[in-house]
Amino acid sequence: MKKYIIANWKSNKNPKEAILWLDEVHQNFPLNSIDKLECSVCVPYIDIPYMYKKIKENNKIKLGAQNISAFGDGPYTGEISGRLIEGLVSYVLVGHSERRKNYNENDQIVAEKTIRALESGITPIVCISEEVEIANWNGFIDNKIDPNKKKAIIFAFEPLNAIGTGNAEDPLAANEFINGMKQKYSIEVMVYGGSVDQNNINLFLNQPSVSGILIGSASLSAEKFLKVIENAASK
Ligand code: PGA
Repeated sequence: MKKYIIANWKSNKNPKEAILWLDEVHQNFPLNSIDKLECSVCVPYIDIPYMYKKIKENNKIKLGAQNISAFGDGPYTGEISGRLIEGLVSYVLVGHSERRKNYNENDQIVAEKTIRALESGITPIVCISEEVEIANWNGFIDNKIDPNKKKAIIFAFEPLNAIGTGNAEDPLAANEFINGMKQKYSIEVMVYGGSVDQNNINLFLNQPSVSGILIGSASLSAEKFLKVIENAASK
């Protein structure tokens, strides 16, 4: 199974900067990674229409959003429903700890957003930092989605003290946690995120239960992101 390399730009890059990044990544993309890695970038909404066509034509990386409305179309000012991005993105992040913390997203909202994404044919990347979040999420989602669709969900284990700090989790501990969650909740794909860069990526990818990585800061420079892919593909 291919390992996932998922970039999360967070609230960075306007369309001009996004296209510069994308052109550089497309031009220098390590072609030997294509059989081994599934690479994607989750971008601010404003960048999606500018990036969508180039990403489709090049077919090297996939496009993702960073949020989705917990509701459908309708009177929800400022929100982007699943239908509005349907067909434009392959993935959407839900429940990132920055949204849980700054926008009071709880496990129920995260579960609703997961369902909305699946309804629009978008693969949700559900971020969790500890088991209780997945246990609650599971309780809310239970019986509301087809078990086959549930298998398609990507989970991301992101310990709070590892995000943006330069202090990545111990790879063995990440593997153990992910392995436990996969078994307990019948999860197929769970990646690790938190201070991954070109130097430590293979410590995580070498772990048998780690399905890939979610990478923030080190994805902002095209050069660094390409190095991450190059190193991951060379192992
Ligand atoms: P980081 O962010 O790689 O900068 O630690 C990861 C994330 O928040 O997804």
